[in-house]
Amino acid sequence: MKKVEVKTSVTVYEDENELMKEDYDLLMKARAAAGRAYAIYSHFQVGAAILLTNGEVITGNNQENSAYPSGLCAERTTAFYASSRYPNVPFLKIAITAINRKEKLTKPVTPCGACRQVLSEYEQLYKSPIQVLLAGEEGEVWKINSIAEILPLSFSSDFLPDGN
Ligand code: THU
Repeated sequence: MKKVEVKTSVTVYEDENELMKEDYDLLMKARAAAGRAYAIYSHFQVGAAILLTNGEVITGNNQENSAYPSGLCAERTTAFYASSRYPNVPFLKIAITAINRKEKLTKPVTPCGACRQVLSEYEQLYKSPIQVLLAGEEGEVWKINSIAEILPLSFSSDFLPDGN
């Protein structure tokens, strides 16, 4: 028997002004996308912006629905659109942020498990790490170097039988 540790390291920036320009610009695009979210039930507007290796930026946000489970998170809306618009183009970075219409968000928003799983598949598919930038409406910004770090031991298509 042995024990193995799984580590996540997060770079913590005091605020968005400490970011390098490329990251700052991506975060601002995610914030603008959050402002366009359709979140009339939760009033929690999430925005994401994905920088692709071809230099394109795809933005998206959460889309809610009166049949609640039919809605979709910002990260998956954005990742699926990026992959449908530019198939075979790896994701370099994703910025995720939110606007909480009920109470100002003073700490970074982190993606749900289902969104991590979806992003993880693109990371594995392209064998290239996707950097993650997380922010609230103000305050600290967190940067993580890959999806694997926020979804260790993830499910992988390698587990599926041959032919998949
Ligand atoms: N939401 C996201 O867009 N991303 C996440 O990672 C978690 C939650 C959305 C879903 C729903 O529209 C609202 O935020 C409140 O849960």
